[in-house]
Amino acid sequence: MTNKKRVHQQVSACSVNLSRYKSATQRKLTSSTIAWSIFFLLLATTSRLFAQNIVTIPIETAKNAMVLQTDKDGRLGIIYFGSRLANNKEYAAIPNQYNSKSDNLPTYNSAYTPAGTWNVIEPAVQITHADGNMSLDLKYVGSDTKKIDANVSLTSILLKDPLYATEITLLYKTYFKENVVEQWSVIKNVEKKPIRMQKYASANLYLMGNDFYLTHYNGTWGNEMKPEEDHLSHGIKSIDSKLGTRANLLEPSAFMVSFGKSATEDEGKVLLGQLAWSGNFKIDFEVDNYNNLRLIAGINPYASEYQLAAAQEFTTPAFIYTFSSNGKGQASRNLHHWATKYRLLDGEGSRLTLLNNWEATYFDFDENKLVGLFKGAKKLGVDMFLLDDGWFGNKYPRDADTAGLGDWQENVKKLPHGIGYLVKEATAAGIKFGIWVEPEMVNPKSELYEKHKDWVIRQPNRPEKYYRNQLVLDLVNPAVQNFVFGILDTLFTKNPTLAFIKWDCNAVIYNAYSAYLPKMGLPQSQLYVDYVKGLYKVLERLRAKYPTVPMMLCSGGGGRVDYGALQYFTEYWPSDNTDPVERIFIQWEYSYFYPAIASSNHITNWSKLPLKFRTDVAMMGKLGYDIVVDKLSEKDLQFSQQAVATYHSISDLVWHGDLYRLVNPNQNPLASLMFANAEKSRAVVFNYLTNTRFMPGATPQPIQLKGLDATKNYTVKEINLYPGTESSLQSTTVYSGNFLMTVGINPDVDLERASVLLEVNEVK
Ligand code: GLA
Repeated sequence: MTNKKRVHQQVSACSVNLSRYKSATQRKLTSSTIAWSIFFLLLATTSRLFAQNIVTIPIETAKNAMVLQTDKDGRLGIIYFGSRLANNKEYAAIPNQYNSKSDNLPTYNSAYTPAGTWNVIEPAVQITHADGNMSLDLKYVGSDTKKIDANVSLTSILLKDPLYATEITLLYKTYFKENVVEQWSVIKNVEKKPIRMQKYASANLYLMGNDFYLTHYNGTWGNEMKPEEDHLSHGIKSIDSKLGTRANLLEPSAFMVSFGKSATEDEGKVLLGQLAWSGNFKIDFEVDNYNNLRLIAGINPYASEYQLAAAQEFTTPAFIYTFSSNGKGQASRNLHHWATKYRLLDGEGSRLTLLNNWEATYFDFDENKLVGLFKGAKKLGVDMFLLDDGWFGNKYPRDADTAGLGDWQENVKKLPHGIGYLVKEATAAGIKFGIWVEPEMVNPKSELYEKHKDWVIRQPNRPEKYYRNQLVLDLVNPAVQNFVFGILDTLFTKNPTLAFIKWDCNAVIYNAYSAYLPKMGLPQSQLYVDYVKGLYKVLERLRAKYPTVPMMLCSGGGGRVDYGALQYFTEYWPSDNTDPVERIFIQWEYSYFYPAIASSNHITNWSKLPLKFRTDVAMMGKLGYDIVVDKLSEKDLQFSQQAVATYHSISDLVWHGDLYRLVNPNQNPLASLMFANAEKSRAVVFNYLTNTRFMPGATPQPIQLKGLDATKNYTVKEINLYPGTESSLQSTTVYSGNFLMTVGINPDVDLERASVLLEVNEVK
């Protein structure tokens, strides 16, 4: 064998399998292997290209596959994305036709596109090396797939720059049954001095097709999750956030991409994705010259150059996605199954129904008023009372949103006997007690600001700019992390039976500047990233000490709903807007990405629409109230008491059933959706009139149900009727599942019956 041939073989062997690569290097080195290694190293450090064996790596779930493959130069590309093939040996036969064949076209299908060498399109990663050089090339070294359990696998693929000591590992965690993939990267600085990263995406996908439709969401306070669908044309369309905290206020990272034509509930190929990161993000959708779609998702590179010291590595947040060939309904169920089992805190557990005082009192309360409200909670039959904003601050009492934030001591005028007394009184009233905090924030009118101006994110020499009269604390600083942890820790230590936390975050970051970073010799451009890392550190610590206490993720509404944060929370607050008609649309859109068990839906007096309608809308998620129970009319109270009991009887379906959307309110004057249990023996159907001016019956046709068993028989009964009203539906008629799913049933929604809830039960 000639020397050249042997070298060729060794390079090829290196590209087969990371574990083999590792074990080879771990093997006791003989003198000849040392010689070979030196020879190989010398060759590898020249930038000569070697012909390599082609390596094919499928990333598979039960239904889908993404196939990665090296090219002749050892660069990793994506050659397939879609339904899984029956025979995975055939993946190797898929032609790598999207790689550049001519010198005139860039390589579009890279699995992680580096900047500064052969690539002349949008990169996934951009690095300045210790010597100032800005070029990066990435070649395949090896890969390894580990089975974490029967359902979850982790594939790691190591890429290296042949010239510089930069190592990047691409990671793909697959949830086989759920058809969900978590993808991220780890960038390691193996150089002797710090390198700087200008861009460090989590994922770089390549989707093949001819036409792509992007659904993304815009919104603002009280108006979250407004969908927009764009037919993607050539060039780059980006969705991003630069708000720092409350990052999803104007646009969340959650999106859908339909392939070929706009996917419907049950038809079409569609990808649902999001970045699990509670800070600035950017997702680029680029239609290339082959009409395929390049997708690059990660932390927003805007003002975020990040320094990596020698031997340090950076783990990017996960990009989470699922793909369905059967429309958005299946894709969203994939995410629900994954989230409840693997991500959302206590996703498979139960939730507390509650009465919150925010809309009932705002800041105007004292302990007597609150104790009075406890009785209302008990009367209603909910599990818990949640005390909202306004309970703290003495030098600067929190009587409005202009002062007191940061001073987490009970206001002695409002609560002379402290929180402990309230917890005790709640327990005596037979309910649990929870509390609101907004620990990341500070009002300039506060003792905290007076004492610790250096803990506040603000430009030292510029006028301050406020969002809701407040500023953001510098969570990059470990002292601030301790302070934030301490707020919660003190509450729990003093009140061990405290049952619930509502964690709010009402401001964005203006004048981004950390007084702490320069002290550590670190650049300001790390603020946005290190803030989120600091936040997660605090939440980690909190969860280590208090693993089970339910916590609601709130950000002036849905300004911070994402799967980065939701691993620490049991639920989220979708919007301060509780107008039931507007809420239907908000809850509908969130439901594509998050399971109903996580959606906190409260009944308030925000709208004058009938209490039954408001209640029915809240029941499609986690039920709560924001009202003064004593102000309810006798009939409204009677209805509400029944409604809470009814909710408790169907909550297993809403929390753990499969969601099927039946009639889309964006296309009809009606919203209809249902939850069916896994056994297909029970279901609950929610029907809402969404155009209250629409005079004729909103349901001239029956609505076909989904998710039942065609061969089973069922009865359909209207539930949650207002006292004194009767259902127009026959509850004793027996229908086959086949009938209910083919012909359907008419819930008979009209102006008089603006919302109709149906319970479907198997008859044996
Ligand atoms: C935010 C929340 C509300 C309430 C107020 C209190 O706006 O979204 O639910 O908690 O803060 O100030």
